[in-house]
Amino acid sequence: MWRQSWRDSVRGSKTVKDVTAAIIPGIANIIIVAVSTAVATAIKDYTNKLVSNSAEKQRSCLLSRFDNDRLEQSEIFGIEEEPDEDEDIIQAKVIEVAADIGVKIEANDISIAYRLGREGGQGRPVLVRFCHRKNRNAVLNKKKELKKKQKKIYINEDLTPLRAAMLKIVKEQATVRNVTTRDGKIIAWLIDRERPVDINTPDDLHKVGITSPDWKRLKLDYLIQ
Ligand SMILES: *[C@@H]1O[C@H](CO)[C@@H](O)[C@H](O)[C@H]1NC(C)=O
Repeated sequence: MWRQSWRDSVRGSKTVKDVTAAIIPGIANIIIVAVSTAVATAIKDYTNKLVSNSAEKQRSCLLSRFDNDRLEQSEIFGIEEEPDEDEDIIQAKVIEVAADIGVKIEANDISIAYRLGREGGQGRPVLVRFCHRKNRNAVLNKKKELKKKQKKIYINEDLTPLRAAMLKIVKEQATVRNVTTRDGKIIAWLIDRERPVDINTPDDLHKVGITSPDWKRLKLDYLIQ
């Protein structure tokens, strides 16, 4: 709370004296007279940094709030859909896909499996919620086998809309060679770097050369006034 009112008072103030009074009330009166431009600039930089740190914190809180439920889930694209498919059938198909890439999953390992999107839609992905994250990760770790076998089945983590939007933006960058996600975190290999970079919040997008993220596209523009 104090931070909020402190920030407002800093933002709204006009003179160096007011700014100083907001930051260091005790000594404000001592330096009314001779405040150099350098000090004024330093204070301004300092407050700008704090305001930007606070925005960054808000954004990461927002991120983590929606993440946890998704860490046991994955989306599988390309499993053929048939009429009157019930949950047991979908589950059996998921178990089959896993078995195909050498991962033993049993019915008891799956909490729920269902089709995403509107009934009757084309190519609807299956959302699988595993009982344990390790089962999900075992499947994700072997997904390259699907490519090797030339199956038209793709498995992804279930990302928040914000992370999915970030992933899309990262993939579009000319500096990026390939991308994956691990527990929601985006991992990108750059063309001119051997080691990948991690992107966990929009602020990390600078690592792939994006200095001012498209907040509107990330649907976070309401946080940036
Ligand atoms: C991306 O490319 C790097 C270097 O070629 C490779 O080591 C890495 O496994 C690749 N990642 C994925 C997800 O394919």
